[in-house]
Amino acid sequence: MAATEAMEVFDTPRALSNWSDLHRIAGRRVALVPTMGALHEGHLALFAEARRHAEVTVVSIFVNPLQFNRSDDFDSYPRPIDDDLQQCRSAGVDAVYAPVASTMYPAGFQTHVEPGPLAGLLEGAHRPGHFRGVTTVVAKLFGAARPHVAVFGQKDFQQLAIIRRMNTDLDMGIEIVGLPTVREPDGLAMSSRNRRLSPAQRPAALCVAASLQAVADAVAEGQRDVATLVAIGRAVVHAEPLARFEHLEIVHPDTLLALDCIDDQAVAVTAVWFGDVRLIDNRLLLPGRPA
Ligand code: PAF
Repeated sequence: MAATEAMEVFDTPRALSNWSDLHRIAGRRVALVPTMGALHEGHLALFAEARRHAEVTVVSIFVNPLQFNRSDDFDSYPRPIDDDLQQCRSAGVDAVYAPVASTMYPAGFQTHVEPGPLAGLLEGAHRPGHFRGVTTVVAKLFGAARPHVAVFGQKDFQQLAIIRRMNTDLDMGIEIVGLPTVREPDGLAMSSRNRRLSPAQRPAALCVAASLQAVADAVAEGQRDVATLVAIGRAVVHAEPLARFEHLEIVHPDTLLALDCIDDQAVAVTAVWFGDVRLIDNRLLLPGRPA
């Protein structure tokens, strides 16, 4: 990466493409890390991973209205842009792409990327249109940044699977890298939404990772029946008065299809509400290996 040069900040796709093309022509690999800002250590881990795969890294910061199915969630999504830019600078990011919504979706915009059946499962069943918004904006970011490689967190497990599918199906030819979820020392998965938790909700939110841990422990002890495992995980959330259980499902990690019984590998995915804050998390379940 060009560590000695000042970080560039772009707000149009043309300016970003020009920057990317110059690096590509010079033989440098370009990495893209798409984000919605409110950066935390989980994002910094993505930036570090990007640097392992490319000479230059661009981070996009855009709170994408298309992927929010609740306007209150969109309106209250944190947007600390000055702090985000500072964090990018400190992390040695080469460029930031931070367009406004009217640049991303100008008047007359009408083309969307329609994901397939993967997008109707799990999160998709609870957030209609969400993944169509994600695939559309990620396709636009890929088009503007022209990256060789793009890095995403595995906390959004289904999102990663859908983006991999889009990349393959639409011959985008980008290397898609997924990075394990970064957690707070107490186990809470890092998320921009955590900062919206009240002081009372923050400790309560530990029940999300604890419920997945309970499921993983039960698998390690030999339990294979999915209905039983879901009941074990759900009970942990139900025991927390400030939590409102939404879903916990155990699916195949590639197809995301529901399983009745765990034979080989599986993934438990969950969403839990704390007031109006919805947190998601997931955990790979590997029978025969320690939890
Ligand atoms: O994971 C996110 O932060 C967003 O869904 C993404 C990939 C940046 C698209 O808006």
